[in-house]
Amino acid sequence: MSFIHEEQGILHMESLSIERLAQHYPTPFYCYSANAIRQQYRNFCEALAPLPALVCYALKVNSNQAILKILANEGAGADVVSQGELCRALAAGIPANKIVYSGVAKTAAEITFALRQNILCFNVESEAELRQISSIAQALNLTATISLRINPDIDAGTHAKISTGKSENKFGIPYLEAIATYKLAKALAGIKIAGIDMHIGSQIQKVSAFDAAIARLVELIDELKTLDITIEHVDFGGGLGVAYKEHDMSEDLLLAEYAALIHKYSEILNCQLIFEPGRFITANAGLLITKVIYTKAVARKTFVMVDAAMNDLIRPTLYDAWHRISPVKAQPNAALSLIDVVGPVCESGDYLALDRYMPQVEADDLLAVHSAGAYGAVTSNTYNTRRLIAEVLVDGHRDHIIRKSPSIEEIIALDTVPNWLS
Ligand code: LLP
Repeated sequence: MSFIHEEQGILHMESLSIERLAQHYPTPFYCYSANAIRQQYRNFCEALAPLPALVCYALKVNSNQAILKILANEGAGADVVSQGELCRALAAGIPANKIVYSGVAKTAAEITFALRQNILCFNVESEAELRQISSIAQALNLTATISLRINPDIDAGTHAKISTGKSENKFGIPYLEAIATYKLAKALAGIKIAGIDMHIGSQIQKVSAFDAAIARLVELIDELKTLDITIEHVDFGGGLGVAYKEHDMSEDLLLAEYAALIHKYSEILNCQLIFEPGRFITANAGLLITKVIYTKAVARKTFVMVDAAMNDLIRPTLYDAWHRISPVKAQPNAALSLIDVVGPVCESGDYLALDRYMPQVEADDLLAVHSAGAYGAVTSNTYNTRRLIAEVLVDGHRDHIIRKSPSIEEIIALDTVPNWLS
């Protein structure tokens, strides 16, 4: 049985009824299944076994300490993109020697901090960054272990805002400059070359895109050998897609195809393999629970106004993302109506679903927004002075509030008024 399922017509997460949880926690709130996360992580690792793989969970998708603790207990490493994320990973007990640091604009302060922590590897994204790391490492009398993130100029076939491996994207070192940058890295003091890295985009559902990108890395690795530059690890980045819609490719199938590809390349590569999955691990382990405030029927459709908004889950607005929305209490025989699920924020872009055929709902009904465990809470904000919403973890029959919602007073207290205005 899936960890998110229906029991006697009520949506459940693991052993707990969402209806009961919503009596306890004010809506809207995020809710995650610990066992769904564990299972997805284990599936990922098992598909790659027995290869020498290190799975560095991409913190950016969901960096709550409790979620990180689940993954740290499973033995996961971390992919971080800021000092804040590095601190979060360390605080959750992920050892520094399992942490890789990506990102196009690491500041001197961030590089210094990460060097002092002795992280596994910097995924370097430009020549300027490489020189900066070298000079900081020399000043600290340390050696920075690095990998160059190569931009292979491959179209990952995903939404334009989450494609990262094309030449027009800001990420990575252009493929044609890779060899020259490796030569530079070899010559710079304070630098130890360990690997090669890529991350071509997110929500990728065609394994052929990974194949094309990896093939380009393999070409580079061969050329590097002739220059006496040894690649000890290949970092394949993240990007594996998940099923948001019923007819999306199943995660099991996609993982199987992806793993087959990696197994194929592993023989040629014959080195350590690093992965940075994010969405794949947590997306379908999370729900956003929201309550209907009002409904408004207009000529063609009905607006269902709920208490969650674009500031809580920005994916539909930002990426035209489609999230399944279901009533927490099933209405199997209800007639379907054309519905927009919208939030209270004063923007026309504030919606969770557009033109959706759904059972007609009423004020106070609970709705579950599915696949909300990745890039949900982490991208939320307080626009319209709306409070960041709570996050709840369910593990078997236990539940725990893993992020509390700040009060309005606490939000206002972050502002300060200069005394000349008083
Ligand atoms: N590694 C690097 C260097 C990344 O930039 C990312 C995601 C990942 C790993 C993890 O990728 P994943 O396995 O989750 O696809 N906010 C957008 C997605 C942005 C992706 C950013 N980079 C969304 O909600 O769709």
